[in-house]
Amino acid sequence: MARVLTGIQSSGRPHLGNILGAIVPAIQLAKENQEESYIFIADFHSLTSSKDSELRKQNTLAVAAAWLAFGLDISKTVFYRQSRRPEVAELTWYLNCFTPFPMLANAHSFKDKSERLADVNAGLFTYPVLMAADILLYSADLVPVGKDQMQHLEMTRDIASTFNRIIGEDLLTIPEARISESVKTIPGTDGQKMSKSYNNYIDIFLPEKQLKKVVNTIVTDSTPLEEPKDPDTCNVYKLYSLIASETQTQEMRAKYQGGNYGYGHAKKEFFELILTKYAEERKAFDFYMSNPKEIEEKLAAGEEKARQVGEKLLNQVREKLGFR
Ligand code: TYM
Repeated sequence: MARVLTGIQSSGRPHLGNILGAIVPAIQLAKENQEESYIFIADFHSLTSSKDSELRKQNTLAVAAAWLAFGLDISKTVFYRQSRRPEVAELTWYLNCFTPFPMLANAHSFKDKSERLADVNAGLFTYPVLMAADILLYSADLVPVGKDQMQHLEMTRDIASTFNRIIGEDLLTIPEARISESVKTIPGTDGQKMSKSYNNYIDIFLPEKQLKKVVNTIVTDSTPLEEPKDPDTCNVYKLYSLIASETQTQEMRAKYQGGNYGYGHAKKEFFELILTKYAEERKAFDFYMSNPKEIEEKLAAGEEKARQVGEKLLNQVREKLGFR
């Protein structure tokens, strides 16, 4: 038995990278597991980048709606907002004091963000410690994530081992990252990793017209329509093959190599495939977004369950550190 846990920030609406890299694999892993899974919305984390409270509320709903639309089974899941379990903030403080400064200073994600963003706050710096607390508070064994979170998982393991060694007991469970090879880095419309902060993401829940516009922004080269094209260097083909069946992918491949098939055609096929493949999820997402009470009820139930588990671990930590 293994406890699965993962989270998504509410710094924007969830995109195809979040869905293929985290939501779908986590739901699959949760299904295969007997034990309850822990799925949460990392709204505390989103404060590092966005200070707009109304927007955060909307994005929190959207992330929750996406999980539910993709079939999260809440009878087998503890589904909650990170901020509604403030125990995590207390554990973060304790873990901060077991985290070497250079470990945080060398984090790829901090280096990348601190070079690009205007608001380089201390929360951005200690972000991995809050993430470690998210995982360790609930004694998770398996954490399904995309490749960009790999280093954060390694830090979590290091922080937990240091803590256990210093207190002389294996109180914190050392978690393992679960990264699916085929979806470890979903490319965005410009070929870089799809990310809210690069503004190159595809929001599959957008109304048709807007979705089409976004699909049309996928960057391609200037090979003329008549000439054969290389599917392996094309962003449209890469994205299409991530959601298409094997046969559909082979068919598009042949069209690229045959000539007289333009990138506009490929974009149209990709757009249409999103609409058909995710028709149910798009409908369910809209339903939840216009019925936020349904989401609220589900989260409230999860938050109560999370409290019981989190408080137990936190009390043990307090005891070990002489705060009880
Ligand atoms: P976030 O919100 O940036 O992304 C959520 C999940 O989506 C995955 N992902 C991707 N996977 C493949 N290709 C992509 N282009 C892509 N973009 C995003 C991420 O790897 C992640 O699994 N720090 C985390 C949130 C978090 C968390 C946690 C995760 C907070 N606490 C505890 C797991 C456990 C983050 O910012 O993910």
